[in-house]
Amino acid sequence: MDSTLDKIKSIKQGDLEEYNKYSMLGSGQHGICFSKGRGVRLYDLEGKSYIDCTSQGWALFLGHANEEIRQAVYEQMGELGHLNQNSDSLPRYALAKRLADLAPANLNRVLFTVGGSAAIEAAMKIAAKNVKGARKFVCLQDGYHGTSLTTGAASWISTKAAGIFTGFNSFSGIINDLFIRVPNPYVYRWAGSSDPEGCVDYCLKAAAETLRAGVCGPVAGIIVEPLQASGGQIPLPRRYLQGLRQLCDEFGCLLIFDELQTFCRIGDYFAATKYEVEPDIICIGKSLGAGFPIAAIIIHDRLEGFGPLGEDIHTFSNNGVAQVAALKQLDIVERDRLLEHVSVLGAHFAARLEALKKAYPCIGDVRQAGLHIGIEFVEDPATKAPDMVLAQTVKHAAQAMGLLLGEAGYRLNVLKIKPPFIMTAGEADEALAIFEAALKAALQKKQ
Ligand SMILES: Cc1ncc(COP(=O)(O)O)c(C=O)c1O
Repeated sequence: MDSTLDKIKSIKQGDLEEYNKYSMLGSGQHGICFSKGRGVRLYDLEGKSYIDCTSQGWALFLGHANEEIRQAVYEQMGELGHLNQNSDSLPRYALAKRLADLAPANLNRVLFTVGGSAAIEAAMKIAAKNVKGARKFVCLQDGYHGTSLTTGAASWISTKAAGIFTGFNSFSGIINDLFIRVPNPYVYRWAGSSDPEGCVDYCLKAAAETLRAGVCGPVAGIIVEPLQASGGQIPLPRRYLQGLRQLCDEFGCLLIFDELQTFCRIGDYFAATKYEVEPDIICIGKSLGAGFPIAAIIIHDRLEGFGPLGEDIHTFSNNGVAQVAALKQLDIVERDRLLEHVSVLGAHFAARLEALKKAYPCIGDVRQAGLHIGIEFVEDPATKAPDMVLAQTVKHAAQAMGLLLGEAGYRLNVLKIKPPFIMTAGEADEALAIFEAALKAALQKKQ
């Protein structure tokens, strides 16, 4: 074994308390220390295995330690690794063309960047450049677009939605009045949830009124996740997204789709295609690089893009290894028809979870689009009062039983199942069995 790796691997579980002192996490706390991953499973330092339904920040379509990605990356590293942004290379040309070919017909120019927040900010710059004089953006309640100084101000973490101001509060004041929020069509929590169309009408009217009379000066763009992931796994209705397109046309601002989380995971390459809405800019990232850091924006042909004079410079925005990993992953997704598998496996999860919902009234709602699955826990299905404690107890019980689940947003009562696409039906059933056992254990604890 390589001597550096050998040294790293000599650190034992008992040593970690000493090491903890030296790292500042930015979010979360120290927890399980993982040493190995294979497919949908992770292993801790003691060899305990966990089925990973988080894809580690929803960033691994092909799971852990994929052999084909490893080979492609290894070969590329032997030829060429890091390049500066102003140096051309074949992987960048190839990936830009591939993404343009997959994107909606009129979105054809691609810019690569270092992560999701930087992608959203690049999209905002393009909007500010194209909508002359406009300096404001509209975003949605429950939205999440990152934690850089600007994108954090567009995310729920900068509001009092959780009942308290959360970590981003220390910085909220720095970016004043850049974003104006409009209500999101959270149909399950809409007062008359039996009337989803009424919810869509209300939210579109609120957006229209905000654009008309609620913003100082012109708006450069509306930024929206087609499925609000971090805020609670909330799929936005097609008619709402189409309505936003009409509003953007009417008020002369751009429609920016934040597809960081929907890209491929909803069973289509793009939500824009699935919901038949043509945005002006699409932002992608997360699993784009099969675990390597890379994000991108794809812009409409009618827009002026970035020029050569330093409008968006990042030292690591042209990483050939990440680009090769992205291309290899897209080849595998296509070859193995993984998007079809995502739809089939997602429907399998949904059917089993709907059956659990009938058996356990604490499951208020199951929301699924491809392998984008949210389970909302409530104290009572009639009042829909969020049951954060139960959701958290299920999550921790599942972890102890070897299943990693995600959690959504500030209510902390939505658990997420967003596994790698390579999960088999057998592995899905294994995960579901642990989920039910964890739920039973949590309910027993509650009594
Ligand atoms: C929808 C969405 N947009 C943007 C981001 C920010 O991406 P990053 O964490 O890579 O900056 C995230 C991250 O979770 C996200 O879920």
